[in-house]
Amino acid sequence: MRFTTATALATLATLASAAKNGRTFAVLRFNGDGFLTEGPMDPVVSPGIQSSHYHSIMGGSNFGATVEGNQLLDSKCTTAKIKNDKSNYWIPSLFFQDPKNGTFQKVPLFYMNVYYFFEATDDEIVAFPPGLKMLTGDANTRAAPKSGGALNLDPDSDLPIQPVQWTCPRSSYNPPSYPVGSDGSTAGIVDPNNKGSGAGFPLYPCDGYASPLRQDIHFPSCYNETAGLDNHKENMLWPHNEGFKQNCPAGTKHVPHMFIEVYWNTPLFDDFWTPDGKNQPFVLSNGDATGYSSHADFIAGWETNTLQTIIDTCDAGDAGMDQCPQIPGGLNDNNNCKIKPDFGTILNAGQIITDLPVVGKAVTGWGKGGVSGGSVVPPAPSKSSSSKAADATPVSSSPAETEAAGSATSKGYEASPTVKAEATTTSAPGGAFIESSSTSVAAVETSVETSVETPATTPAPDADTPGSYPEIKTIWDIVTITLTTTVPAPEPTQGLHRRAPKHSHGHAARHLGGSFAARR
Ligand SMILES: *[C@@H]1O[C@H](CO)[C@@H](O)[C@H](O)[C@H]1NC(C)=O
Ligand SMILES: *[C@@H]1O[C@H](CO)[C@@H](O)[C@H](O)[C@H]1NC(C)=O
Repeated sequence: MRFTTATALATLATLASAAKNGRTFAVLRFNGDGFLTEGPMDPVVSPGIQSSHYHSIMGGSNFGATVEGNQLLDSKCTTAKIKNDKSNYWIPSLFFQDPKNGTFQKVPLFYMNVYYFFEATDDEIVAFPPGLKMLTGDANTRAAPKSGGALNLDPDSDLPIQPVQWTCPRSSYNPPSYPVGSDGSTAGIVDPNNKGSGAGFPLYPCDGYASPLRQDIHFPSCYNETAGLDNHKENMLWPHNEGFKQNCPAGTKHVPHMFIEVYWNTPLFDDFWTPDGKNQPFVLSNGDATGYSSHADFIAGWETNTLQTIIDTCDAGDAGMDQCPQIPGGLNDNNNCKIKPDFGTILNAGQIITDLPVVGKAVTGWGKGGVSGGSVVPPAPSKSSSSKAADATPVSSSPAETEAAGSATSKGYEASPTVKAEATTTSAPGGAFIESSSTSVAAVETSVETSVETPATTPAPDADTPGSYPEIKTIWDIVTITLTTTVPAPEPTQGLHRRAPKHSHGHAARHLGGSFAARR
């Protein structure tokens, strides 16, 4: 029998309205080296004004401090591998704070994935409407999550939703990444289901398989159209677990469940800190030394039919969304989509700064910055009459100082590969089951340039500050989950830097791809 496109589409149309009995998914990857742009911009939380902290942004080139609605759709280029995805995805940038003298360096991106999960459901899963703005995670917290080290995406749970984690595969978990019995007040908390994951930054370097430190962030997937595209505080709800299905509340649209993984090139800094089981050197761009305030933002810029086709016809999984059988508009062949930031300047790899952009020296959490313990509250707003007009942190008014780093090689940036292979498998209730593969990784020269950061200007008031989310209950009341995972490394554009110059970057990348493929 012969299948025509028409019959295939008719079949799909029928399926689309029927119940979906299993999860399908596809991982979106990105082209090129690093991000689309970086800087203190956040058109979801602080439209039109400087954000309270520096972000790293992927996606469509029409990104800017004021972007909204359909504006992303005619972006000239995108970093996404799917040409018709002009969405933007962003997270707080990660910095290394030198324990010797307190200076900071941006941690370069290794690579980033966005899992698009199409869950088993009785709903129809539909594409994101262009301009949909979302925020997940809490940029203001410095307190350990009530759910401990585990994720919680279940809105019916007694615990609050916990959509973020850190994952750090290691060749050995002795000593453990998180102190045994930690309550989160002076160090993070291990995920009871996975020694390599937890709440907060781990205390040891990530030397497991192809695995620098990974930031894991889940987005809710039920869009409340009545609340609207721009109302990021109320427009998204978490689906309810009903048996093995995830169903959205009445009156909301079931959109894809996004899960972002950001792999930061932390091994670059392995030689510059000595683990002692008590401290670790990484800090988020908002000054958070705990990692609890990890978060991500999204603005939809998908050509709707392209994403709907992928939802309805693709289960490419870890092989990547670029392997979907039907991709209207095709793949993106632009490997160098970059734009200038609306605020500030992009920090270079290797550039040493004495103050974080915007927040200055205000590093807080786990006893730092005059605050201590798990009940940490970020610095008091400096001017706070209204809950929406508070500055999160003191602002440095002097230009950030910059120093040239020496040569890359003198700083241990020489090539290097090899991380231990360690396969782990994890599955969790209602969750997918994904496995990590083995092998790893390689090298690349870091170019070190000097440039001076622009002076921080006064951040405009924004809602991304302490006490400004009084009504966010809808979202934070939720919880449970899903999956712990680890993943196939795509071919990285930039190698992990380690000492042990045995493999070449290309070799490692091929090896990685091959070993993963073999496992599927
Ligand atoms: C801080 O230490 C790093 C190396 O650990 C060095 O490159 C940098 O110059 C130092 N900066 C200051 C201000 O001492
Ligand atoms: C959707 O948003 C509207 C307006 O904010 C609100 O009244 C309604 O309760 C919300 N629906 C759900 C299911 O939360």
